[in-house]
Amino acid sequence: AGGDRELLLNGIRDVPDHPKAGVVFKDITPLLADPRAFSVLTDALAAAVTRVGATAVAGLEARGFIIGAPAAVRAGVGFVPVRKAGKLPGETVGESYSLEYGTAEVELQADAIGPGDRVLIIDDVLATGGTAGASVRLIRRTGAEVVGVTVLLELGFLGGRELLLEALDDVPLEALITV
Ligand code: PRP
Ligand code: MG
Repeated sequence: AGGDRELLLNGIRDVPDHPKAGVVFKDITPLLADPRAFSVLTDALAAAVTRVGATAVAGLEARGFIIGAPAAVRAGVGFVPVRKAGKLPGETVGESYSLEYGTAEVELQADAIGPGDRVLIIDDVLATGGTAGASVRLIRRTGAEVVGVTVLLELGFLGGRELLLEALDDVPLEALITV
């Protein structure tokens, strides 16, 4: 509903020049601090999990953990962390990507998911699409299927959707809000 969109949008604050000059940081902490908004967000993300028939949620460190984990619980599926390199124990698989600011690598535990798993990727913001794209490649390397990517906020002017859809083929990319 329109009221829900407003509630979510009101919880996202623009912070100019963070973490570098020229970048407008999308800060979701006001949304997280508002239990009504956080619950609306969790319901919307959980509905996405059910709609695409996901059997697991992959949350992208760090903000994708915060919003992805409650959605997985609410939808009744497991949660798998996609972490920044060097954090996960045991055998891992990794993928590099370039970010709106800097470069990074994401990792997944090699045995976390595999063939037969249907994974929905959840993150807060789609900017250039680098993070989500690397995560799609990572999850596919395990033999699991990526059944969707759902973000709270898509920054349409950065073209991340176009970049991502090249890698994603026909996997649905859903943004709750696009600016
Ligand atoms: C931000 C944001 C997304 C990503 C979007 O995460 O939370 O994960 O950037 O950018 P992209 O589409 O250009 O890849 P960031 O790496 O800043 O870290 P955080 O989630 O740990 O705060
Ligand atoms: Mg992030």
